[in-house]
Amino acid sequence: MILVTGGAGFIGANFVLDWLAHSDEPVINLDKLTYAGNRENLASLAGDPRHLFVRGDIGDKALTGRLLAEHRPRAIVNLAAESHVDRSIHGPEDFIQTNIVGTFHLLEAARDYWSALADDARTAFRFLHVSTDEVYGSLGKDDDAFSETHRHAPNSPYSASKAASDHLVRAYHHTYGLPVLTTNCSNNYGPYHFPEKLIPLMIVNALAGKPLPVYGDGQQIRDWLYVKDHCSAIRRVLAAGRPGETYNVGGWNEKPNLEIVHTVCALLDELRPRADGQAYRQQIAYVADRPGHDRRYAIDARKIESELGWRPAETFATGIRKTVQWYLDHQDWVRNVQSGAYRDWVAKNYGERQS
Ligand code: NAD
Ligand code: TYD
Repeated sequence: MILVTGGAGFIGANFVLDWLAHSDEPVINLDKLTYAGNRENLASLAGDPRHLFVRGDIGDKALTGRLLAEHRPRAIVNLAAESHVDRSIHGPEDFIQTNIVGTFHLLEAARDYWSALADDARTAFRFLHVSTDEVYGSLGKDDDAFSETHRHAPNSPYSASKAASDHLVRAYHHTYGLPVLTTNCSNNYGPYHFPEKLIPLMIVNALAGKPLPVYGDGQQIRDWLYVKDHCSAIRRVLAAGRPGETYNVGGWNEKPNLEIVHTVCALLDELRPRADGQAYRQQIAYVADRPGHDRRYAIDARKIESELGWRPAETFATGIRKTVQWYLDHQDWVRNVQSGAYRDWVAKNYGERQS
């Protein structure tokens, strides 16, 4: 089996669902259930013996040590993190605790467990760390896309905390020989994306008749990848990546934010037109820019393609259509996330179970 951390979040839940759709190898899913963790994302796995959910913190070394000793996974896929740049600007501390200190404790538990394995299991073990392109900092308009050797130059507390975790993971390979793999991926979008991030926020606000807040001039560029393509990349790197290596993962889809918002609006105009017949893009409202806002990210994903044969399956046009349709079809999920109903459920179910 494998141990996945952060498997109730956006990418984590997609990854667990995707993993179990492709294999019968069981998953232990360790998640702290912060505001971003939502067990409803995993509702389709209810009663599935291949999925064991454990509520807990990656920074709790006693807990992770126990889980590793008891379940003896062949790999750890570390997706647990605080992930939202704007939240990191308002309050960086949780980012330092989970992304840096938490990853450190998880690495320590992994090292203890891995060191005591028999030779074959030691050789086969993998610690796959999921990271972001934001560790590389911001590109100018004509700069080359980020390759794996691009220097780290993080600009937000979020990206700085992820860069620190990448360095720790690298050091555990270099110093102790832990068989680690790191993936640095561009912006994901797709089902179960928490509506604080650009694409789901725009869909949800548009449908609610609220303003669509575009930071600054809206010309900041991101490279967008459909989340299921990220999941297939992680599976591929886990299966065939070389220990100690980093793989950049991207969608070959560089787009300015304003174009993304226009595309979302046009799809909604087509799929769920406004009652008054007006266009959704009328709801766009330019607001003050994000402090320290990175201007451009772009991923050079040639290494993962040439070494491991991975390429994204979705274009932006196909992925964004599926995504908008998913939000239209899952308004209950949106309402529960927004009303905090799932957090009430967490308090109810776990409130008296804390160890
Ligand atoms: P998310 O915020 O949606 O989910 C994070 C999950 O981690 C949540 O379920 C949360 O409860 C859990 N978590 C947080 N702190 C924890 C802790 N201390 N112990 C255990 N669980 C904890 O994030 P996401 O967008 O799914 O991102 C997952 C990973 O992928 C992160 O490492 C992020 O840096 C990376 N990443 C994200 C993107 C993106 O576009 N979303 C792109 C590249 C890389
Ligand atoms: P986001 O989804 O927060 O991802 P990241 O900051 O990790 O790239 O934001 C994507 C881009 O959209 C980023 O340039 C900031 C911008 N943005 C807005 O213009 N308005 C918004 O309300 C949000 C949340 C983001």
